[in-house]
Amino acid sequence: MASNDPYGLYHGLYLPKIAHTEDSLKYFESFKFQDDDVIAVTYPKSGTTWMQEILPLLLNGGDLTSVLTVPNWDRVPWLEETHAAKVMDKLTAPRAFVTHMPYNLMPSTFFSSTAKVIYISRNPKDIVVSSFHFHRMASFLRDPGTFEEFVDKFLAGEVIFGKWTDHVKCWNNTDLGDRILYITYEEMIQDLHGALERILHFLGKHMSKDVLKRVCEHCEFKSMKQNNMSNYSLVPQTIMDNEKSPFLRKGIVGDWKNYFSPELELKFNASISEGLKGTDITFPWDE
Ligand code: A3P
Repeated sequence: MASNDPYGLYHGLYLPKIAHTEDSLKYFESFKFQDDDVIAVTYPKSGTTWMQEILPLLLNGGDLTSVLTVPNWDRVPWLEETHAAKVMDKLTAPRAFVTHMPYNLMPSTFFSSTAKVIYISRNPKDIVVSSFHFHRMASFLRDPGTFEEFVDKFLAGEVIFGKWTDHVKCWNNTDLGDRILYITYEEMIQDLHGALERILHFLGKHMSKDVLKRVCEHCEFKSMKQNNMSNYSLVPQTIMDNEKSPFLRKGIVGDWKNYFSPELELKFNASISEGLKGTDITFPWDE
């Protein structure tokens, strides 16, 4: 890898050097989970930022203060990124985190704790479109090339956090039992209120109808887009250029149809099926 390459390699995965340093990854490896921690796990572009909005609200009775005053990366930090160590002692229990890490690389205390996990998946065709635009606007990512070129890299796993199919597989069929809740981006789009009720139930929390309605309205795409603590407008334009493509871009299901030719779709489907061969993993978008 050239020295000006924005990526470093960690256990065979490309990670952006800007936020993943030797120190941050050591911090991650020796992180001490508490039993009441909650971690949302995603392959990039599957709804991480959305969960950074939802979790604090569901965990603290719908109080909007933190989501309106603390940037998403500080209120629900990525455990593997440099911000985690900086904000950890400001977080109050129950703490919420996000990670893109595969299951096998989780810190050992994750396995010995009873911390809860929410795994959010999304149609990989919509992920690749979202990711393509993210690569156009973020200077800490490799130039995506054309959309077709980027799809090839995505399918080959030559992108940050590796192959989508590997990520989905490693977080499936685990020993986590009822510690893990699986939810899809598509379910959240279709019925956010219902998804929030499911998550609340999983977290063992209750909320009055009125408060849940307010939380739901606050977590809708159009509200989050206005929230400067969540829309990445605080990041300098040299790092994230929201004018090239806003981070909160479209927030819809099925945008892939505007990008995939029939040939590309066939190739993509074949590669994803091959990657999931031998598993019983199915997704609502396959039906
Ligand atoms: P699009 O680029 O398709 O719009 P992540 O946070 O994992 O990087 O994922 C980013 C994707 O989630 C973007 O998708 C973004 O717009 C979408 N997203 C974030 N908040 C959302 C919300 N409240 N409703 C719908 N989509 C949301």
